[in-house]
Amino acid sequence: MGKKNGQTAPESRGVAHPEPMAGEDERELGLRPRRLNEFLGQKTMKENLAVFISTARERGESLDHLFLIGPPGLGKTTLAQVVANELEAGFVQTSAPALDKPKDLVGLLTKLQKGDVFFIDEVHRLKPAIEELLYIAMEDYELDWIVGQGPMAHALRIPIKPFTLVGATTKAGTVSSPLVSRFGITCRFSFYEQEDMEAIVRRSAGLLGAGIDDDAAALLAKSSRGTPRVVNRLLRRMRDFAQFAGKASISLPVVRDGLKRLEIDPLGLERQDRDILKMIIERYRGGPVGAETLAISIGESVETLEDYYEPYLIQAGLLQRSPRGRMATSLAYSHLGLPPLGPPAAGTGEGLLF
Ligand SMILES: Nc1ncnc2c1ncn2[C@@H]1O[C@H](COP(=O)(O)OP(=O)(O)O)[C@@H](O)[C@H]1O
Ligand SMILES: [Mg+2]
Repeated sequence: MGKKNGQTAPESRGVAHPEPMAGEDERELGLRPRRLNEFLGQKTMKENLAVFISTARERGESLDHLFLIGPPGLGKTTLAQVVANELEAGFVQTSAPALDKPKDLVGLLTKLQKGDVFFIDEVHRLKPAIEELLYIAMEDYELDWIVGQGPMAHALRIPIKPFTLVGATTKAGTVSSPLVSRFGITCRFSFYEQEDMEAIVRRSAGLLGAGIDDDAAALLAKSSRGTPRVVNRLLRRMRDFAQFAGKASISLPVVRDGLKRLEIDPLGLERQDRDILKMIIERYRGGPVGAETLAISIGESVETLEDYYEPYLIQAGLLQRSPRGRMATSLAYSHLGLPPLGPPAAGTGEGLLF
């Protein structure tokens, strides 16, 4: 394809768990869809994007700036690369925490070629000074740059090549509105449907050269919290279990047994998900409990709790977020086999106002 791939270190401080573990990155790379037709699911989003990409190309213009919103592992980084490939444009990648000083951003923007896709991950973490620079860059393809110091300082307007900014975030609500308003296209990812997850399992198994039975693929898809990154990770583990047991392919019993070994339950919850619900129910009487308190109780950062665990627990109907905090739903009690909460026991002092 002869495209450059100028990458800065995609740092991911803060959200430790959801990003691929060290060493896993490489293996994920082979499974990553490269073109829109390999990018499964998210049908409406994909159809719209196909239109915007082809019309921008017909006009010989760069694609409008693109805002990608969704929980970790649903394909934001993948889609950014797919868009660059479809545009036959260069792809330059960074993340907000890696942009410390305005000059870091200036260095990247001035090197862009016409039509390049410039991907910034975690855009909700951009520093204000960098955001300000980005506004003008996005709108006018120019940089406002102060050179010199003290009385010698003066502002320069440096032209840059027209480019497409792709910004990704797990937290749309915390992105500043001036930035949001400068994105012309917004893609909101939802957890993948069962049939799309099955298609992803089959595609990945094919690429890994691993045989998998249909019923095994269906169970794996169902147990992967609607998240392609999770299903790819579990698929590799199931391949290990099958190989270890001397099986030629991944069968339903292999998946059933493997999920049990990994402590993943029929709803696709991991042990930490269940610990979160148990904590709310047993320690905080079902809630509401604030995110900070809950995060400390389970030994995770608030960011990991909010970005990775909560969206799926909410979608599965097990957790509710209210202004006063997090609450376990009655489905959470029954899923964990815990009795519904009765009134506070007499004489414990609980429930008294003073
Ligand atoms: N629509 C999709 N179809 C097939 N595989 C996908 C899709 N979206 C994501 N994946 C797989 O899941 C992995 C994680 O996606 P990624 O783009 O890194 O997620 P995010 O950036 O949202 O955290 C990718 O490496 C890819 O293999
Ligand atoms: Mg990503």
